[in-house]
Amino acid sequence: MEVVIVPDATAGGELIAETIASLLSRKPDALLGVATGSTPLPIYQALAAKVRSGAVDASRARVCQLDEYVGLPVGHPESYRSVVLREVIEPLGLSEASFMGPDGAAEDVQAACEAYDKALAEAGGVDLQLLGIGTDGHIGFNEPCSSLASRTRIKTLTEQTRVDNARFFDGDTEQVPRHVITQGIGTILESRHPILLATGEGKADAVALTVEGPLASVVPASALQLHPHATVVVDEAAASKLKLADYFRATYASKPAWQGL
Ligand code: GLP
Repeated sequence: MEVVIVPDATAGGELIAETIASLLSRKPDALLGVATGSTPLPIYQALAAKVRSGAVDASRARVCQLDEYVGLPVGHPESYRSVVLREVIEPLGLSEASFMGPDGAAEDVQAACEAYDKALAEAGGVDLQLLGIGTDGHIGFNEPCSSLASRTRIKTLTEQTRVDNARFFDGDTEQVPRHVITQGIGTILESRHPILLATGEGKADAVALTVEGPLASVVPASALQLHPHATVVVDEAAASKLKLADYFRATYASKPAWQGL
């Protein structure tokens, strides 16, 4: 995988927004897989600014969700559908029709998971998949020991993830759903270009294990080592435990500009 160390979260957001812009100029109806959480917000803000200034035409872009809570009432402000509508679809001026995600309120959750995997394939597959990383190394909601071949399915959150996400639920861990739907690791690996952004010291251990540790389901993000074109963008704080940081810096500094990410 390629590791790019940027000075801060804003620079990471700008770099990835540039990459999305370049994709949309080549493929205006690209399918963009978006992640939730705090980390990707600078990407969405930078991309929305480019759309507003006319530098990017995102009008034909299609957007798909990575994961979703199970059991939140439809329209709950912290359902990931609501978050993506608020943080991505509206700022980019897209319509809800260009957006798809798994149905976390479905009665038959298993059928909803299978339907979502099928819908992604029928849409031609994900062109660029944005990812954050959990402090335990999860991507999407693939918690430690998720199968590296997994498909979209229901998962149970670890206590750590519920504590981490309680900040979106009035700081109350009990309000964080226990179950979620997530694209599987196998599903994520089918995207043409996964890009993981990690910022802040709290992600430094997970990043080091993802990039420099062995491929292991106990660190789900390490599965990106299997992808022929995976990019990990980290700020200085999240890169602070990488032994090969200087090598990654030197490599990126001498990369031909035409290659992009
Ligand atoms: C949740 C999401 C992940 C996200 C993670 C980290 O668990 N399901 O997709 O990467 O949070 O969130 P943050 O970026 O806020 O640290």
